[in-house]
Amino acid sequence: MGVVFIGAAFIAGYCCWSILEANARREVLAEAGLMMDSALATRAYTANEILPLLEQRVWESFPPQSIPFYAATQNFMKLRERHPEYAYKEATLNPTNPRDRAADWEADIIQRFRNDATAQEVVGDRETPMGRSLYLARPIRTEHECAACHTTPAIAPPTLLARYGGDNGFGWQDNEIVGAQVVSVPFASATASAKRAALRSNDLEELVADLATELDAEADRRTFTERCRQGRG
Ligand code: HEC
Repeated sequence: MGVVFIGAAFIAGYCCWSILEANARREVLAEAGLMMDSALATRAYTANEILPLLEQRVWESFPPQSIPFYAATQNFMKLRERHPEYAYKEATLNPTNPRDRAADWEADIIQRFRNDATAQEVVGDRETPMGRSLYLARPIRTEHECAACHTTPAIAPPTLLARYGGDNGFGWQDNEIVGAQVVSVPFASATASAKRAALRSNDLEELVADLATELDAEADRRTFTERCRQGRG
């Protein structure tokens, strides 16, 4: 009987662990979603409130602060000063700023978006030097208004060329997926809270196992007393 109890306790423990793992993943994914929304908010703020203020300066010296994608990246670089394990990147196959060039694994994600125009989001895990991390990626698609700075150097503002040169970030087509926003969130904190919860459930398992041993011993004692009685009778 004890063996059955212990087996059941272990199965229960395994199920608890799987649930906690799934919860940790959900927690990390929610965090990644929030980071993505925060990047979109920064982009919208820059496009609506900063760009109109700097538009005229584009012809004097190019102000990157007017570029929504630049603003989102800079904002997250500040965040990384305190949370280096979090990352945000506008990974692009042919970027204006070399900092944004897609790494191999990011280029694979961009290709997936390019091959499947209906894909809106890709989620996955990867090992990083700072531990396992979850990534959430969304495609970056061009619109007509991007053409002024991303089609040919011939029509781009000369100040942009002076700052970035004419070799990168051009040749983008209208309505083309040129990159992906990629957010990376570490599993570490969520896994730690899952482990804490699992330890609590392990205590419960131990309690069940102790109880099972106790019940087993009690049953043996009863059988023994019974036999003795029968022997006497
Ligand atoms: C006024 C010129 C201009 C316009 C218009 C413009 N961009 Fe850019 N874009 C830039 C510059 C300059 C950078 C590099 C900023 C930096 O230093 O990070 C950039 C950076 C980017 C990046 C980051 C990757 C890279 O190339 O470094 C993406 C993605 C991007 N732009 C997409 C777009 C999209 C999509 C549109 C249209 C909706 C658009 N841009 C419109 C000038 C422009």
